[in-house]
Amino acid sequence: MKFALVGCGRISKKHIDAIKELKDAELIALCDTDINKAESQAQYAGNIPFYSSYDEMLKAHEDIEIVNILTPSGYHAANVIDIVKKYKKYIVVEKPMALRLQDADEMIRICDENAVRLFVVKQNRYNLPVQKLRQAVEKQEFGRMVMGTVRVRWCRPQAYYDQDPWRGTWELDGGVLTNQASHHIDLLEWMLGEPMSVMAKTCTFLADIETEDTGAAIIKFRSGAIGIVEATTATRPKDLEGSLTVMGEKGTVVIGGFAVNKMETWNFIDVSEEENARVLKDYAETPPNVYGFGHQRYLEHVIDCIKNNKKALVDGLEGRKSIELINAIYESAETGREVFLHFNPRYSKLGYKEEDRL
Ligand SMILES: NC(=O)c1ccc[n+]([C@@H]2O[C@H](COP(=O)([O-])OP(=O)(O)OC[C@H]3O[C@@H](n4cnc5c(N)ncnc54)[C@H](O)[C@@H]3O)[C@@H](O)[C@H]2O)c1
Repeated sequence: MKFALVGCGRISKKHIDAIKELKDAELIALCDTDINKAESQAQYAGNIPFYSSYDEMLKAHEDIEIVNILTPSGYHAANVIDIVKKYKKYIVVEKPMALRLQDADEMIRICDENAVRLFVVKQNRYNLPVQKLRQAVEKQEFGRMVMGTVRVRWCRPQAYYDQDPWRGTWELDGGVLTNQASHHIDLLEWMLGEPMSVMAKTCTFLADIETEDTGAAIIKFRSGAIGIVEATTATRPKDLEGSLTVMGEKGTVVIGGFAVNKMETWNFIDVSEEENARVLKDYAETPPNVYGFGHQRYLEHVIDCIKNNKKALVDGLEGRKSIELINAIYESAETGREVFLHFNPRYSKLGYKEEDRL
């Protein structure tokens, strides 16, 4: 399948490397409004053609089949909608798919109307320990679910936020809950199911940004289980963990490491100690950096879905779920109240310019 990239910033190298490794894939062009970035990534990708706009690129290469949207989060919706309406290409969009719920809905609708498939990158779902945990959830091995916890304890110094003007803004990025923890919030929902309500507090401690660098939320799931989200980019002096714990009446699983990549605890009542230990050994996996290994596995899945007409693991509707929960977290932090899902955000600032906020 022929891929093209829109946006040649920090995450683009992951996509270039992943596509290079895939049997059935080729990266044929890329673009960035900053032509210098496009040029340097085009060289890195093996001297492929590069452009300063996606219109130019998509007109020059009609054979492009899949477009990966790697622009700042607040631009995803507009970019996807425009490209799908004009060119009807398959879309892989980086997380978070959009910031405002209505934008996510519009993306889903436009893709459906144009018979285009939309894939949202949630590469951590492909981490081996996460897949193993999901199988245990599907087989109901936990019995009654009790609690799930995600922790993002990462270090993002001011220099990280200062490198691009969109970072740490309500309009284009959101804070740690939207940017860094959206993966972990997605995993929590994937394991514990539909959330019913949320209470949250957020704060900006160490970064000079509009949005939060730290947040905590308590979620009540429809199953009755309780979820805890603890997320901060104010961990110092360096990244500590990105983890997920699931506890049920019959067992406990903890996946830790920097990027939910390392099976740290696998204990089930009805399982022998040897078997528990074997799972721990087989599913220990340590990634080279916080982004993890999953982009290649994720894009492999995208190709498989398209070629074999399979259901996507994270399509638009699935990607929308964490956007709704994140907006509910912000709504609760703004109002000091428990917010029940489903709802229409009123006080969440996510995705809005200052003059357009309530
Ligand atoms: N899956 C992950 O683990 C992961 C990790 C990092 C970033 N991301 C996501 O990837 C996205 C990009 O993040 P980043 O860190 O690479 O940002 P970045 O600022 O480094 O790169 C974004 C690039 O998009 C370009 N751009 C903006 N508008 C454009 C347009 N209309 N056409 C072409 N190019 C355009 C910018 O010039 C910039 O080079 C964000 O949504 C982020 O949340 C995901």
